[in-house]
Amino acid sequence: MATATNTRATRAQATAQRIDSARHPAARRIADVLRNRSEKPQVFVLDDLENIEQAVACGVELDSLYATESTVANGPHSFVGVDPDVPVHIIDDAVARSLFGGQKHSRIFALAHSPRSPKLVDLISTSGDIIVLDGVRLVGNIGAITRTACALGAAGVILLESGLRTTFDRRLIRASRGLVFATPVILASRAECADFIQREQLRVAALSADAVEALSSIGAVARRLAIVLGGERDGVSSELDALTTHRYAIPMTPNVESLNVSVAAGIALYEHRTW
Ligand SMILES: C[S@@+](CC[C@H](N)C(=O)[O-])C[C@H]1O[C@@H](n2cnc3c(N)ncnc32)[C@H](O)[C@@H]1O
Repeated sequence: MATATNTRATRAQATAQRIDSARHPAARRIADVLRNRSEKPQVFVLDDLENIEQAVACGVELDSLYATESTVANGPHSFVGVDPDVPVHIIDDAVARSLFGGQKHSRIFALAHSPRSPKLVDLISTSGDIIVLDGVRLVGNIGAITRTACALGAAGVILLESGLRTTFDRRLIRASRGLVFATPVILASRAECADFIQREQLRVAALSADAVEALSSIGAVARRLAIVLGGERDGVSSELDALTTHRYAIPMTPNVESLNVSVAAGIALYEHRTW
């Protein structure tokens, strides 16, 4: 099986188009996609084998695959689950470096067609807690929380004031290990989120290091929760705090002011698990 896969990979790489100049039409296209700051990009960049395979497993359609010369020189790469008809390109290392510029340099990447962006209504009739990140802006934290939310059975993650234009952001895809395609991650305004919570009559639990009640009592809440975590600097906003029915703290030793938000999210989801 491994031999058959490698043979197919070697064949794909033997017939691959070579990109040896930044003026090559395929290189220009990559540059355009990397430059695109649209809220609804039609095509986006997927970095690294693991994220490409995860995205494909979640139904994302690839447009084209790219590997740098030096990566190919180290042996053939198979792409598990990838349609063998997706065109493969081998790109000169210096051209790849110049395309990525100050952004992360990728040795293996793909261009992919953007799937439909999830919406708040997609969370209706789902089960599991909903994580609301109220002003969390570090993409590494959002990605780590998305991965944990997926692992611990949350219905989705709502991002308020995250600073992201799209959830098909290269940094978020990498930080979530491609799981941003497996769990709905939704960009919304505070007003839209408040409206959704009220319409769906969701119970809201806010996490704050200053809360009086210890998180260990969250297990007593039998219903699904919207679990709100605040931003790295300012904590939970007054708009979301006004909707809160429960406030919990994760007790800490007195010499620590707060936990990293992704750690707090993981502990809360685990404490409230129903499985
Ligand atoms: C880095 S903290 C923010 C610190 C911020 N100065 C504040 O006033 O909340 C980010 C978020 O993680 C959650 N958090 C961090 N430590 C926590 C703890 N010990 N108990 C409950 N939530 C915590 C809260 O939701 C907090 O808003």
